[in-house]
Amino acid sequence: MKFNHEKIETNSWLMLVLVLLVISVGGAVEIVPLYFQKSTTQAAPGVEPYTAIRLAGRDVYVSEGCYNCHSQMIRPFRAETLRYGDFSTAGEFVYDRPFQWGSKRTGPDLARVGARYSDEWHRLHLTNPRDVVPESNMPAYPWLAQKKVDPVAITANLKALQKLGVPYTDEQIASAAKEVEGKTQMEALIAYLQGMGVKTMPPAK
Ligand code: HEC
Repeated sequence: MKFNHEKIETNSWLMLVLVLLVISVGGAVEIVPLYFQKSTTQAAPGVEPYTAIRLAGRDVYVSEGCYNCHSQMIRPFRAETLRYGDFSTAGEFVYDRPFQWGSKRTGPDLARVGARYSDEWHRLHLTNPRDVVPESNMPAYPWLAQKKVDPVAITANLKALQKLGVPYTDEQIASAAKEVEGKTQMEALIAYLQGMGVKTMPPAK
């Protein structure tokens, strides 16, 4: 039988089914191998699951919407690596659920900001960015120094991540509440920021 292309072009349902079929095959070919590649599924050397306090800080980062202005993804371009350090690799994000890559950079990328400044610098900066960077348009977050981290929530968070395959030990989960007890959200956020990228790269300064 002679293949009649007109049949497809004049039958929108047939066309729709075939288009979906082609897209699914194309998508599967690109996506499925990612589940089996070590470079995308295994932690990069030195990358460990977040400690309870850093995880609490990460929750603050997400809830305050820091990702609206900051990316955590250094692209493999010379201008980026000169400014921020080594480009990001997939293995650095295996414990990030969800990852904070972002695409909006009102402020600089933060993937390698860990250990670049002192804790005190971050405290001043988060309390009022203009005190340390006069031209900054970053909002101030003074209330983070008043609000405490919730130990119950952090234990639940660790448990959920363990279920999802993050290799937390039961001892780590048992001691999580104690680790964050009495800590402010500001302290947790700073602990999170200070850990960013330092395991995978020596500090910039
Ligand atoms: C409205 C956009 C905006 C938001 C929201 C924002 N920032 Fe910023 N951030 C900036 C800008 C602009 C700069 C650069 C000027 C400065 O250092 O203050 C900056 C700088 C920084 C720096 C210094 C980076 C470096 O390499 O010098 C850190 C750390 C930082 N922000 C953390 C945060 C955290 C944590 C949050 C959420 C609590 C946050 N930012 C929310 C805009 C923002």
